[in-house]
Amino acid sequence: MTAKLVLVSGASSGIGEATARLYGARGAHVLLLARNPERLDSVAKAIRQDGGTATVFPVDLADAEATEKAASRIAGETGIPDILINNAGAGRWKPFLETTPEEVRAMMAVPYFAAFNLTRAFAPGMIARGSGSIAFVTSPASYLAWPRASAYIAARRALAGLAETLQSEFKGTGVSVTVVALGTVETPYWQHNPGSRENLPKADPRLVPVLTPEQAAEAIVTGVERKKRLVVKPGIFRALFVLNALFPRIVARELSR
Ligand SMILES: NC(=O)c1ccc[n+]([C@@H]2O[C@H](COP(=O)([O-])OP(=O)(O)OC[C@H]3O[C@@H](n4cnc5c(N)ncnc54)[C@H](OP(=O)(O)O)[C@@H]3O)[C@@H](O)[C@H]2O)c1
Repeated sequence: MTAKLVLVSGASSGIGEATARLYGARGAHVLLLARNPERLDSVAKAIRQDGGTATVFPVDLADAEATEKAASRIAGETGIPDILINNAGAGRWKPFLETTPEEVRAMMAVPYFAAFNLTRAFAPGMIARGSGSIAFVTSPASYLAWPRASAYIAARRALAGLAETLQSEFKGTGVSVTVVALGTVETPYWQHNPGSRENLPKADPRLVPVLTPEQAAEAIVTGVERKKRLVVKPGIFRALFVLNALFPRIVARELSR
């Protein structure tokens, strides 16, 4: 792999941890961002045990000022990343009438504002250099809607809107932008965001297999390396996105089950 410096947000757990470890194993120096310093240290240790290198930057990405400070420290100490993986995210899937204004704001803070702020911090350096890759890790919620997850879905729509706009805006700059839409991944997300699993639309696991964090990481790393605009895993969601554009009522009925 040609990338030297890779920043992964939300690297202390689940998909971000697996992605950071995969980049580390492929020879990148990985910058690990999340709040929990102990978890970040243990991911960094695992990367080093596998022969890679990593630096941890504990930061609350819901805090714009702290994010800006961390980004300028990173730029000063290690340089502008070759690859930025916007992965940090949280949010409980709840009925609209049970969702508070504070929860909606928190769900927009991370992932959406966190991804905006990190991208805003590093994109100018990438553009000036004429190279860079930025990924936005999201879910089919960026393109579909189902009941009892309105705040989560709105935040994922915001992420996709930002990413798709940057795909046009950064054209010709040497900076690629990849959206990665992942189906259900078996990670601590479901413990970190209680009640969410209960509101997952029912799906036949033979048609829509649950992913491991390692499969998710492989999809992210390969998609970014190939400068894909959109990575969808499992692939069946791509057909659902098209079907939804043509026959939204049918898809809405299926996702309401
Ligand atoms: N699991 C799935 O089925 C699935 C499917 C599609 C997409 N996704 C998306 O993929 C991303 C990663 O999810 P995951 O399944 O790996 O969940 P996870 O295991 O709960 O990991 C979430 C990561 O985000 C970090 N994070 C959350 N709030 C943060 C904040 N305020 N500041 C800094 N870091 C923060 C967490 O670190 P700290 O707690 O240490 O801060 C953690 O490293 C999320 O955006 C999620 O929505 C998940």
